[in-house]
Amino acid sequence: MPAGPAVTGPVLGIETSCDETGVALLRWQPEAPGEGLLAHTLYSQIKLHADYGGVVPELASRDHVRKLMPLVRETLAAAGLEPQDLAGVAYTAGPGLAGALLVGASAARAMAWALGVPAVGVHHMEGHLLAPLLEADPPEPPFVALLVSGGHSMLVEVAGIGRYRILGDTLDDAAGEAFDKTAKLMGLPYPGGPALAALAGQGRPGAFRFSRPMTDRPGLDFSFSGLKTQVLLAWQGSDRTEQTRADVALAFEEAIVDTLVIKCRRALEATGAARLVIAGGVGANRRLRAELAAAGDQDGFRTYFPRLAFCTDNGAMIALAGAIRLAHGQHQDATVQVFPRWDLESLPPAV
Ligand code: KG4
Ligand code: ZN
Repeated sequence: MPAGPAVTGPVLGIETSCDETGVALLRWQPEAPGEGLLAHTLYSQIKLHADYGGVVPELASRDHVRKLMPLVRETLAAAGLEPQDLAGVAYTAGPGLAGALLVGASAARAMAWALGVPAVGVHHMEGHLLAPLLEADPPEPPFVALLVSGGHSMLVEVAGIGRYRILGDTLDDAAGEAFDKTAKLMGLPYPGGPALAALAGQGRPGAFRFSRPMTDRPGLDFSFSGLKTQVLLAWQGSDRTEQTRADVALAFEEAIVDTLVIKCRRALEATGAARLVIAGGVGANRRLRAELAAAGDQDGFRTYFPRLAFCTDNGAMIALAGAIRLAHGQHQDATVQVFPRWDLESLPPAV
């Protein structure tokens, strides 16, 4: 990354990696990171994709094209700023859907070029794992981050910003993907994760029990696709009443949450870290939040969660991660480049 002057003014953040258009304005203040957020807006494409039971990449790209610039104007107005006030632009450069990423990257690069300010491409998962810094009393590295979204289930050791070591990864389905696919096979509408979690609230404990995959052997990798099959067999062999659907949902949620808690405990023990950050869409799951907080009370580690709105995809986390890098003089040349697959460990440290 070429080094440039440290950017300290307002940074525009743009997220378009999947099915949410997120825009935010943030001024990086190391001494009080949570107070730097000036405005943020989000447009979710959920309704657009619901009929298809999943995200349709081409429709996602076209909708980002329609919604992005109106959201940028709305966010600037909410912060009382003009485009000329921007000191830098940050956008999600990957991983994600190539076409969707290109919409954000092109718009961001064009604005930065027109305004004569630096722009930086942000790793979407770095955005997620730094999202707790948007809150008061943020975690200091070193910490362990559990990143659980629709595309990822990862445990990451964070030695500093940009200094990441992947401790465990998913071998097949990501945690959010497992929620979504399981919900779909029980007939719940897209996106299934939150719907399944809500249904689990009416489930009767103990009615069903599913395995905790890969917890019977050492290691920090995850595998959730077998769980989906267990649910399918249990559901198809049942009376398929509403109560049974809730019972199965609860047993599935318990199995995923238990597995994640066991692996987090192991990761904290292996690294000796005393802080755990939970981020990504599945971080919005209430059972997961409660069980990890309880495990922390028992084992003596502290848990940090972003607010619910910043667990799922949003522009604020991209503005934050980008603003930190711009403040360290990091940006890239003025080319539109995206990375649909991008190794988190390959990022440079922010120093
Ligand atoms: O981080 P995110 O918004 O997008 C990706 O980068 O993937 O995560 C979305 C994922 C979806 O799979 C969704 O079903 C899941 O997060 N999710 C939940 C909950 N809220 C969102 N899963 C379980 N319980 C929830 N409350
Ligand atoms: Zn995400």
